[in-house]
Amino acid sequence: MSTKKTFSRRGALGLMGAAAGAGALAGFTPTKFAIGQQAKVRVGTLLPYSGTYARLGEAITNAMVMRFAQSKEMMGGREIELVKLDSEAAPPKATENTSKLISDNVDFLVGPVHSGVAMAMAKIAREEEVMTIIPNAGADQITGPLCSPNIFRSSFSNWQPGYPMGRVLAEEGKKRVVLCYWNYGAGQQSAQGFKDGFAEGGGEIVKEIGVPFPEVEFQSVLSEIASIKPDAVYTFFAGGGAVKFVKDWAAAGLKDSGIELTGAGFLTEGVTEAQGAAAEGVRTTLHYADTLDNDVNGIFRRNYKEMWGKEADVYAVQGYDAAEMIRIALEATGGDTGAKADMIKAIEGATFDSPRGPFKLSAAHNPVQNFYLRKVVNGVNEVQGIAVEALSDPGKGCRMG
Ligand code: BEZ
Repeated sequence: MSTKKTFSRRGALGLMGAAAGAGALAGFTPTKFAIGQQAKVRVGTLLPYSGTYARLGEAITNAMVMRFAQSKEMMGGREIELVKLDSEAAPPKATENTSKLISDNVDFLVGPVHSGVAMAMAKIAREEEVMTIIPNAGADQITGPLCSPNIFRSSFSNWQPGYPMGRVLAEEGKKRVVLCYWNYGAGQQSAQGFKDGFAEGGGEIVKEIGVPFPEVEFQSVLSEIASIKPDAVYTFFAGGGAVKFVKDWAAAGLKDSGIELTGAGFLTEGVTEAQGAAAEGVRTTLHYADTLDNDVNGIFRRNYKEMWGKEADVYAVQGYDAAEMIRIALEATGGDTGAKADMIKAIEGATFDSPRGPFKLSAAHNPVQNFYLRKVVNGVNEVQGIAVEALSDPGKGCRMG
């Protein structure tokens, strides 16, 4: 079902976001245009609003709404209209859903969360040359061999959060690790990132356990891990599945077994309240942490809490920055959504202060960013340090056509 929303929370949160983006552009002259200056710019979201990833889609959307409100719903002189479509995190529905948004005349596509949905969505976005910002899905190919001038990420590649955790455990001298992940592109690529980082320390992956997405029956997996007794486990689970895995891990008695539970940061992101005591002490790596000490993050978290009554998380950050990228494109062209080459150039050259820290894109349109080692302390993902600074995805095979 598609729902349309024009924003009403005018000016509720002041101009903090606009200030954060100031100075992002250098040397762009808006192109002249004569069409539809009065029409609203339509931003179509293809995000999960139901199922195991629903809370991720909600956080992305909430933060976009907040960023648009901070600009009083006007960007490049034009009003913004959001067109929402539930992706259900279902790859088989992705082609039809993407086509629906495009035939609904959206100027920007924002989505998805799930890598399988992203593969189908990106194919159509590339063919139709629709300006697209991916606010989560990490499918490596999209900023690799399938990269495209009109497609950008405000999030990460799947390889990125895995690699630093592999490096951390290798440096700590962990020797035997089990990999356990939802068995689709995102989990497999996250595991590959871990292996690449871990390989540098001479350790051994003793077992890879794939769980079909979105299954959350973990009992047999946990029994197998207990019998292997590795030094650590690296996982990829998110949303509702991450809540269940961490709780089941503790309930199975593995928390005090000497086997360390680690993962890509999605394991504890946005879900520590639901996980409760089971999450305490879990270490992960991600491009964001609740306690990041920079001015933009402090204000962002305060505003988000005030507007939505809940804590912000990495998904909110990615949605916020996706909306900021739209602002940059529209400001560069004075709202002319037909001037795609200029919008692309503007986003490619943008640098701004994100709640995650400095934001810039690689030549393949994927963020180059710090990856933090985090630990859950009193329900908060606390920064322990930078695991890898300014990490760029290898972006293998990207040729911008
Ligand atoms: C993905 O499918 O790319 C994904 C989903 C949830 C969290 C991170 C990545």
